[in-house]
Amino acid sequence: MDIQPFTLERYFAQYEFKAPYLLCTSDCEAMTVRELLALEPGSAEGLQECWLGYTESQGSPELRTEIADLYETLDADDILVHAGAEEAIFNFMNAVLTPSDHVIVHSPCYQSLYEVAHAAGCQVSRWLTSEAEDWALDLEWLEEHIQPNTKAIVVNCPHNPTGYLMSHQTQQQLIEIARRHNLLLFSDEVYRGLEYRLEDRLPAASDLYENGISLGVMSKTYGLAGLRIGWIATRNRAIYEAMAAFKDYTTICNSAPSEYLATLALRQKAPIVQRNVEIATHNLALLNQFFDRYAAIFSWVPPKAGAIAFPGLKIDQSIEQFCADLVEQAGVLLLPGTKYDFDDRHFRVGFGRKNMPEALERLEAYLGDQGIV
Ligand SMILES: Cc1ncc(COP(=O)(O)O)c(C=O)c1O
Repeated sequence: MDIQPFTLERYFAQYEFKAPYLLCTSDCEAMTVRELLALEPGSAEGLQECWLGYTESQGSPELRTEIADLYETLDADDILVHAGAEEAIFNFMNAVLTPSDHVIVHSPCYQSLYEVAHAAGCQVSRWLTSEAEDWALDLEWLEEHIQPNTKAIVVNCPHNPTGYLMSHQTQQQLIEIARRHNLLLFSDEVYRGLEYRLEDRLPAASDLYENGISLGVMSKTYGLAGLRIGWIATRNRAIYEAMAAFKDYTTICNSAPSEYLATLALRQKAPIVQRNVEIATHNLALLNQFFDRYAAIFSWVPPKAGAIAFPGLKIDQSIEQFCADLVEQAGVLLLPGTKYDFDDRHFRVGFGRKNMPEALERLEAYLGDQGIV
């Protein structure tokens, strides 16, 4: 397999556990096992009784039942659990796509959403969005670029890295297009549940569309990335079976303690999600004020959901160099747009963690020290 290095993950490998102030993380605040167990009486004993043999390949029935509860029309048999969302992306692209297929991918985006399809031999068209259009998806562009061999559309809402969230109407129109052309809709919904206003939450693609595949994970909205539990939800049995069979060659089944803890976290999701939405909205208010203060230096499209956004540097400087100097001199990590194969002007900020305000203060002090503000 000829697959390009995952640029963003290589960048994080260099800095994530070294830089003291992470201002570009994509997840929400995590918690300890003890804190999670404290949410439900008796769960600590349950964890100790957890059987450490092989688990059911598709995921435990208890976990799949909790996951199915996140959807309107799906049941436990429509859920296939994976080791994080990342394994599910890899398995979908390899199990379902063939080299003669064409795939259209919402961009800029998390690299595996196009790179795995590319490595599987597919022709990939990047469905580019722009800051000038508030990062909105252009459905006319989509229709114009569908080819006879197009097999799938890949979208990600709430979006990494821009925080874009399409409207309900756009989602309906997107599904009409997919249905009319008989295309699969692979919908990365890892930030679903992290909308700041409930009315903005979109229905899952797998609920609305018989050929929709929804991608979910414990890492983002629930802040439990260390569990490495993700899933796909779909009513398309052929896709489900193909991915289940492919999984025999990747992880076979999931970690038993992780399944136990993920099941518990989903049973107790209300307080976990509420805490994370509160952290994100509090931090976002600080970011809005910051970018208001420095509107001459940064461009800013406020995100509509999630815990990340994609501002731009207006001054004439490479953002890659800016980020390298910043982490070197002030220990603050930002993620340059070049790591998204995008441009050398935009950068990702992450605001899902409690210590974000301190990192933002450090950035502001650095800007002052450098005479930029
Ligand atoms: C949009 C998107 N999809 C999928 C993933 C993969 O999630 P995980 O690392 O939990 O497998 C990420 C992680 O950053 C992401 O941002």
